[in-house]
Amino acid sequence: MIKNIEKILNVQIEKESYSSHLYLSMASWAETSGYEGIAKWLYIQAEEERLHMLKFIHYVNERGGKAIISAIKTPPATFKDVADVFQSVLIHEEFITASINEIVALCNLEKDFTTLNFVQWFVAEQIQEEKSARAIIDKLKLLGKQNLYVLDKDILTMRAAAEPGGGVA
Ligand code: FEO
Repeated sequence: MIKNIEKILNVQIEKESYSSHLYLSMASWAETSGYEGIAKWLYIQAEEERLHMLKFIHYVNERGGKAIISAIKTPPATFKDVADVFQSVLIHEEFITASINEIVALCNLEKDFTTLNFVQWFVAEQIQEEKSARAIIDKLKLLGKQNLYVLDKDILTMRAAAEPGGGVA
């Protein structure tokens, strides 16, 4: 495996791992703030990020590189409110999208078309990740902060509907 590619993929492993930690921290905040549905959504999201991390780990190792498991920084533990949580989710996902795009750019520069092909899954995934964060933010705006009970009940249905084969794509 090309060294520069191995390096950038290892940085991504750390970022996906942090994403999982960040959403776990948000889930824990939501759970202790009485938002059961939102907490579940965030716990599921944290698991998905762990799977993203594992995808990168296996790819690096299978291609003859060495995946590095490093320490993760502590995510924020408290949030102003639910809107603050989902704004932070969106900002974080935009950061991850930019980071996936950097991998794509490096693959082109290094003519590593195998990794380019691998990373396409993440390009598509980021479209969904940003879309679902924006959908929740829009719904929050529509409902107003006084109606969080409705969002808390609806949020898992929104996730199910957004998933492949889940009805509304
Ligand atoms: Fe692994 Fe939410 O991007």
